[in-house]
Amino acid sequence: MKLCKRLRSSNGQLQSSFWPGVTREVGMDLVDMGIKRVLLMTDKNLVDLPPVQTALDALKKAGIDYDVFSEVRVEPTDISFKAAIDVATQGKYEAYVAVGGGSTIDTAKAANLYATYPDDFLAYVNAPIGQSKPVPGPVKPLIAIPTTAGTGSETTGVAIFDLTDRHVKTGIAHRHLKPTLGLIDPDNTKTMPPVVAAASGLDVLCHALESYTAIPFNERPLPERPLLRPAYQGSNPISDVWALRAIELTSKYIERAYRDPDDIEARSNMILASSMAGMGFGNAGVHLCHGMSYPVSGMVRNYRPEGLKTDYAIVPHGMSVILNAPAVFRFTAMACPDRHLEAARLLGASISNTSYSAEEAGHLLASEIVRLMKALDIPNGLSAIGFTKEDIPALVKGTLPQHRVTKLSPRPASAEDLALLFDDSMRAW
Ligand SMILES: NC(=O)c1ccc[n+]([C@@H]2O[C@H](COP(=O)([O-])OP(=O)(O)OC[C@H]3O[C@@H](n4cnc5c(N)ncnc54)[C@H](O)[C@@H]3O)[C@@H](O)[C@H]2O)c1
Repeated sequence: MKLCKRLRSSNGQLQSSFWPGVTREVGMDLVDMGIKRVLLMTDKNLVDLPPVQTALDALKKAGIDYDVFSEVRVEPTDISFKAAIDVATQGKYEAYVAVGGGSTIDTAKAANLYATYPDDFLAYVNAPIGQSKPVPGPVKPLIAIPTTAGTGSETTGVAIFDLTDRHVKTGIAHRHLKPTLGLIDPDNTKTMPPVVAAASGLDVLCHALESYTAIPFNERPLPERPLLRPAYQGSNPISDVWALRAIELTSKYIERAYRDPDDIEARSNMILASSMAGMGFGNAGVHLCHGMSYPVSGMVRNYRPEGLKTDYAIVPHGMSVILNAPAVFRFTAMACPDRHLEAARLLGASISNTSYSAEEAGHLLASEIVRLMKALDIPNGLSAIGFTKEDIPALVKGTLPQHRVTKLSPRPASAEDLALLFDDSMRAW
């Protein structure tokens, strides 16, 4: 595939630029927005690597005054969000530049929100954990420069964090949180370690699969007013286009991107797929794989994946999501078997006839996911990262409040269903 050398496109609120090297434009973009002083946010693994150094060079060349905040926590928490919010509030910045993966971009969204509209921390957090207060208005400009491929956070109005005392992930979701501009630079993913390429690439796949199989938008209740419309609205003809293309690209390139960091064609297509999946799920939403992943991340005990630099136990986000995926899609296939079959076909399943049962459709899709998990050296199920059957009640308890996403499942999942799904996810093959 020939990649367009430069592409700048607009999707509603979001603008994005895509080409290898586009990070070098960030200073000029800020000048064009009339901005003189920014906070550049990143994590401590990335601060000395080329993505951040390139962005800093660009700010210097354009004469932008900046501070650097490199204390983003990988897999952020309420505590790490608050530390970033304090710095943003005190600095009175005109805009923000986030250079990193979803952890960094989400932290920048939260810092920007609370520095612009200060409130109790739980005010804007999704109900029932927080109060789900709508964001009062536009926030300051945020330029998001992703370095993983990825969360698609550069396209979404969502910021995810772990609520430490409850051991559960939750988030803030509102369209005003969407970054002003995404600079999608394939060069920035060259330094991504294999485990990050695998986990973040499988996150792309789940974003696309879940948004494509989410409950249709016209089966959800109409909000009283547009301001109250949830960021995640259910699958719809527009998000389907993004999701299907993201599945195709991921199917074609994820293994190459994992095996060879210098395969720029594969890494370029994966970062494109990430943004495309983001446009899809940022409107349609995700469902059970993500809903069930939040307690998996929150309850991690000792697991530390090989190749990831951290001082603490961690399940990389995409890994926590994909570990539940085979069981989830076997379960949800009953609701929309044709969509599960189409997704399986795009991932490479040979579909020989049109008379598959819903159960067979679910199994076909689950088998393709398991094939990719093996190819990307993902652990064999929740048991391989330290969970046991005794954890199932707590995992279910942590999933039940995730209404924002679980309600988008095409097949409602009761507490008993979730317990069976976690049990089924203990081993993937
Ligand atoms: N806002 C959204 O729409 C959204 C969607 C999905 C996930 N998320 C959230 O995003 C977070 C996960 O983000 P992620 O998967 O992008 O990874 P990440 O930001 O957590 O980074 C993972 C690791 O990779 C390293 N890293 C990232 N890019 C690198 C590069 N180019 N070179 C070397 N090292 C690099 C980081 O330092 C870190 O150690 C989770 O908290 C998840 O819940 C948000």
